[in-house]
Amino acid sequence: MNILGIYGSPREKGNSEVILDEVLRGVKESGASIKKVYVRELKMSGCRECGGCNKTGRCVVQDDMQKIYPLFEEADVIILSSPIFFYGISSQAKAIVDRAQAMWSKKVLIKPRDQWKNHDSGTGYLIAVGATKGKSLFEGVQLVARYFYDALDMDYGGGLFYKGLERKNAVLNNSEILKEAYAFGQRIVMGT
Ligand SMILES: Cc1cc2nc3c(=O)[nH]c(=O)nc-3n(C[C@H](O)[C@H](O)[C@H](O)COP(=O)(O)O)c2cc1C
Repeated sequence: MNILGIYGSPREKGNSEVILDEVLRGVKESGASIKKVYVRELKMSGCRECGGCNKTGRCVVQDDMQKIYPLFEEADVIILSSPIFFYGISSQAKAIVDRAQAMWSKKVLIKPRDQWKNHDSGTGYLIAVGATKGKSLFEGVQLVARYFYDALDMDYGGGLFYKGLERKNAVLNNSEILKEAYAFGQRIVMGT
C-alpha cells in the first residue's frame, strides 16, 4: 500500500505536522510505504483557470506541482494535514487542491459520466488543527477535502480534527492526541 502524506502547514514542526508524523509512524510500522510532501517547500502557483487541462487532463503550468501529479497517481491513500486558517486550509495546501483540477479534467475525459463517483483510486483523509473551539471550525475544510479527493477519484474517509491548539508545540503536551494519531495510522493500513 502506497501512502502519501501532504504536510500543509507553513510552520515547521507545528501541530498538524507532529500529528501527521504520528499517523505516518503508525502507517509505517503497519507495513505500508510512505512518501511525504511539504507544501511550504514547493515553488508553485495556484490554478490559473486557463483551461489548459481541459483537452488533455494535464496541467500546462510548469512548476513544482508537476512533481506531485505522479505521487497522486501512485498513492492508494492520501493524508492531507493542515492548520485551520480563517476556517479554511492553508493557502499553500489550497494551491495543491486547486491544481488537482487537472486530475478532475483527466477523470471526466477518461471515464463515462456514470462512473465519475466510483472513486476507485483509493481513499483520502484529512487532519486539521485549529486554535479556537468554534462549532463549525472543520465544516469548510471537510468540504474542501471531500471534493479534492473526488477530483482524484478517491473516497473521502474523514480524519482527525483537533481544536484549542495554538502554540507551535501545543500538541506535544497531549499524549491522548498522539496516541489517537498513531492508532489512526494503523487503522488506515488495516482497513478498519
Ligand atoms: C493566518 C492564520 C489564520 C488562522 N485562522 C484560524 C481560524 O480561523 N480558526 C482557528 O481556530 N485557528 C486559526 N489559526 C490558528 C492555527 O490554526 C493554529 O495555531 C494551529 O495550531 C496551527 O497549526 P500548525 O502548527 O500545524 O501550523 C490561524 C492561524 C494563522 C497563522
